[in-house]
Amino acid sequence: MNRQPYYITTPIYYVNDLPHLGHAYTTVACDAMARYKRMRGYDVFFLTGTDEHGQKIERKAVAEGFTPQAYVDKIAESFVQLWETLDISNDGFIRTTDPRHVKVVQRVFQQLLDNDDIYKGSYEGWYCTPCEAFFPESQLVDGKCPDCGRDVEWTQEEAYFFRLSKYGRPLLDHIATHPEFIEPSSRRNEMVRFIEGGLEDLCVSRTTFTWGIPVPFAPGHVAYVWIDALTNYLTAIGYLGDAEMFNKYWPADVHVMGKEIVRFHSVIWPAILMSLGLPLPKQVFGHGWWTVEGEKMSKSKGNVIKPDEYAAEFGVDAVRYFMLREVPFGQDGDFSRMNFIYRVNADLANDLGNLLSRATAMIIKFCDGKVPEPGVQEEPDRLLPELAAEVLEGAAAAYDRLAFSDALAEVFRLVGAANKYIDDVAPWNLAKTEEGKSRLGTVLYNIAETVRVSAVMLAPVLTRGPRQLWYQLGIDGSPEEAGWEAARWGGLKPGTQVRRGDPVYPRVDAKAEAQRLKVAGGSAKAEAAAPAKVTDAEPAGQPGRGAEVQAAPPAQEQITIEDFARIDLRVATVLEAEVVKGSDKLLKLQVDLGSERRQIVAGIAKHYVPEDLVGKQVVVVANLKPAKLRGEISNGMLLAASSAGEPVVVAVVSPEKDLPAGSKVK
Ligand code: MSP
Repeated sequence: MNRQPYYITTPIYYVNDLPHLGHAYTTVACDAMARYKRMRGYDVFFLTGTDEHGQKIERKAVAEGFTPQAYVDKIAESFVQLWETLDISNDGFIRTTDPRHVKVVQRVFQQLLDNDDIYKGSYEGWYCTPCEAFFPESQLVDGKCPDCGRDVEWTQEEAYFFRLSKYGRPLLDHIATHPEFIEPSSRRNEMVRFIEGGLEDLCVSRTTFTWGIPVPFAPGHVAYVWIDALTNYLTAIGYLGDAEMFNKYWPADVHVMGKEIVRFHSVIWPAILMSLGLPLPKQVFGHGWWTVEGEKMSKSKGNVIKPDEYAAEFGVDAVRYFMLREVPFGQDGDFSRMNFIYRVNADLANDLGNLLSRATAMIIKFCDGKVPEPGVQEEPDRLLPELAAEVLEGAAAAYDRLAFSDALAEVFRLVGAANKYIDDVAPWNLAKTEEGKSRLGTVLYNIAETVRVSAVMLAPVLTRGPRQLWYQLGIDGSPEEAGWEAARWGGLKPGTQVRRGDPVYPRVDAKAEAQRLKVAGGSAKAEAAAPAKVTDAEPAGQPGRGAEVQAAPPAQEQITIEDFARIDLRVATVLEAEVVKGSDKLLKLQVDLGSERRQIVAGIAKHYVPEDLVGKQVVVVANLKPAKLRGEISNGMLLAASSAGEPVVVAVVSPEKDLPAGSKVK
C-alpha cells in the first residue's frame, strides 16, 4: 500500500551562533509533528539543516580566525549534536554549502533568468548586514534597521533583480483561495496587508562579498542568501536530481518557522516557485517567540537558554514537553526556570507519573500484580473509557493543526480525570467488601488502560517516558511504534504482569531550587516557589499521591509577580454565544483567541443574554485546565466581577479599547 507522503521543514539555521532554545523550539515542534504523522501511517520526510552563506557568517568566521568553511563545519556540527540530544528524528539535514545544493541554486537562477523574471539593474540603498536585507529610506527607524535596530550601511552595487512586483496579485489570489496557506490567521492578515501595500522587485545578487553561491551568468555576483536558503526545501528532496523523490514529497505540507521570517516564506518563496512553475507549499506556519524572564534572549544579557543543559538536568522529555505545552503554538511565550520546574512537576511527575505508580501499586496490592479482567462498564466506571475516546479525537484534531499545547492538554484532561476517579472511587475501600471486589477489577483496569492510551497519545512529544510507562504496565515495545491506533481503548490484556519501577518522571525539588535561586540573588524568583502543601488524599498505607499535590495558596496570601505571570490572561473576541441546554446559569461562548478558536462556558446567563456578548471583547484565563460543565467543555475562563450585596450585579471584564484577539493582559 502506498502511504501518503508528508513533508515538513524547519527553517535552516544560521551558523553564526550556537543553537539555543529558539532553534530547538521550531525543531522540536516539527519533530513532534513528524512523529505524530508517522504514527498515523504517513510516509514522512522531515527536513532541517543549516544556512551557511552570507556576509554575516563570512565576517564572523574571519573574526574568530577560521576560514568560512572550517567555521561553518564547526557550528553545523553543534546543531547536529543538539538534535541528537533532543531526540530529533529528522530524515534529512541539508547544508547550503553542499555542492548538490550549490548546483540547484545555480539552475534556479538560470531558470528565473530564462523566464525573464531576473533583470540587471543597480542597487543603492541601506543595507543591514546582520539581517542581510536592504531597506528603503522610508522604512528605517531613526536611521537604523527596522528589524534589529542596528546601524545600516549605504550600499551601491550593480545587481540582479527578481520581478517580485509581478507576483503581488497572484499571491493575493492564492491566499484568498487557500486561506490555510498562512497560519495562524493573524500572520495571514499581516502578510495580506504587506502585499497589498505593493511589492518592490527584489535584489537577488551581491557583489560586496564572496562567501556565497556564484550566480552562473554574472561573474563576481553571489546569490542573495535568502534565495539560496529558501531553495534548500527543493534540493533536499531531490529537485533536478531525483525526480521520483521530488514528485513524491513536493509540494511541502508545511514549512514551520518563527514569526519573523514568515514574510520570506509566504511572499518571496511562493513568488519564486510560481516563476519556476512549481506548486506552492500547502502551508506556512509562523510560531511565536520566546523571551526569558520577560526579556529578549541575547548573548549580551547572558540569558541564552541552552536546551542541552536543561535536557541533561531534567531529561529530554521535560524540555520537549515544556516547550510544546506551556505556550499555544503560534503565540509568544516566556521561559523561566521556575515555571519550567512547576510545569514538569505538576504534569509529568504529579499527574502522569503518579497515575502510573498508583495503577501498578494497586494492581500489585489487590490483584497479585496482574492486570485484572474488567467487568461490565457501568456508570460511573464508563467515565474513563468514554473520556478516552473523546480525548483521542480531540488530541488528533489538535495535533493535525499543530496545536501541540491543546493536544497535550487533552491528554492531561484524561490523566487528571483518572486521578480524580481514583480519589472518588477509593479502590482500597472496594477491596474491603465482596461486592466491592467485583467492581475493583473494572476500576483498576480502567486506570491502567488510561495510562496505556495516554502513553500512546503523548509519544509524538515525549520520546522516552511513554516506553517506560508501558514497560511498568507490563507491555514490551514502544507506544510510538505501535502507532496512533494503539490509543484506542481496550488494548491492555488482562493478566499482564505489571512491573514496579523507579518514577518515570522524578519530581524536582522546587523548594530547594527556589532557595538556590534566592542564594544566587534571585529573591523574586525564589518567592515564586511557594512551599508545597501536602494534601494526602489517600489513607496511610495506600498507594497514593501524597506529598506530590500542591494546594492553592490561602485567599489573602500575597503572591509574587511570577505567580501572577503563570496566569495567561488574554483578550478574546466573542464570536458566538448560546445558553447551555438544560441550564439557566451557563452560557456557551465560542471565542477568537487570535491563534485559535475556543469554547468557554461561563456562569453569567442570569446577567447577560447571548446577543449582548457577540462581538464583545472579553478577558479570559487562557491556560486554565479545561473542565466540563453540564457536558460542555470549557477551555478557559471568562473574567467577570460581581457585587457583594443584593441585587447581585455582574459585569464582564472588557478591555477599554479594541485590541487584536489574543493580546496579553498583564
Ligand atoms: N537562516 C534563516 C532561515 C532561512 S529558512 C529558508 C534564519 N535562521 S535563524 O538561525 O535566525 O533561525 C531562525 C529561527 O529560529 C526562527 O524562525 C525560529 O524558528 C527560531 N528562533 C530563533 N530565536 C527564537 C526565539 N527567541 N523564540 C522562538 N524561536 C526563535 O532566520
